[in-house]
Amino acid sequence: MRYYALAIDGPAGAGKSSVAKMLAAKLKYTYIDTGAMYRAITYKALELKIDISNPNEFDFIDKTIMEFKNDILYLDGEDVTFKIRSNDVSNNVSVVASHIPVRNKLVFLQQKIALDRNVVMDGRDIGTVVLPNADLKIYMSASVEERARRRFEENVSLGIDTDYQKLIIEIKRRDKIDSSRSYNPLKQANDAIFLDTSHLDIHEVANKIYEMFLNEIHTKRSD
Ligand code: DC
Repeated sequence: MRYYALAIDGPAGAGKSSVAKMLAAKLKYTYIDTGAMYRAITYKALELKIDISNPNEFDFIDKTIMEFKNDILYLDGEDVTFKIRSNDVSNNVSVVASHIPVRNKLVFLQQKIALDRNVVMDGRDIGTVVLPNADLKIYMSASVEERARRRFEENVSLGIDTDYQKLIIEIKRRDKIDSSRSYNPLKQANDAIFLDTSHLDIHEVANKIYEMFLNEIHTKRSD
């Protein structure tokens, strides 16, 4: 059996997760939010009160169970949807995601998930590292102001205390860490399609990608 994969990368607030969720529902594929996995590990590290700046303190990942059920991430059996969106997790996740042992473990898990199902996976290194043979790779971005506005609305809808100006600073800081880390940085894959979503409606973006993806897999099926 051959499984299909759609990879969506880009910086924070580009609209990846909303678009990826819509596409997964339309295609009846499994949606994998890899950012949620880095956030869940960060949440657990903070709970365990380990030194999060030390890459060698993350052995607990081997004993951690992360499962997606209906787009919801369960960490050791607990639905952590809200906990992983806290300001504390957001402010620490880039540091955790820069550790090589953490990345290697999560990339391995992500590749394993895609082995036996069709997936829409979003993150920062899906097209470059996790699924280099994905059937279609999209790299989405938008202006910092627009991305902060989207995060602001998302936080408000989740009931998270939020401040637009602080979000701009936080997004810039995260962009810098995510794209300048030496190991698997945020980068557009050479064969990815770039989409600037600053002035596009999220439904338009999803429809555009949907058409491109169907074209791609129909071509492959008829080969
Ligand atoms: O998409 P997000 O904001 O939930 O991602 C949280 C953090 O995880 C972000 O700062 C970058 C990191 N991340 C990563 O390094 N690689 C991924 N594949 C996904 C997320």
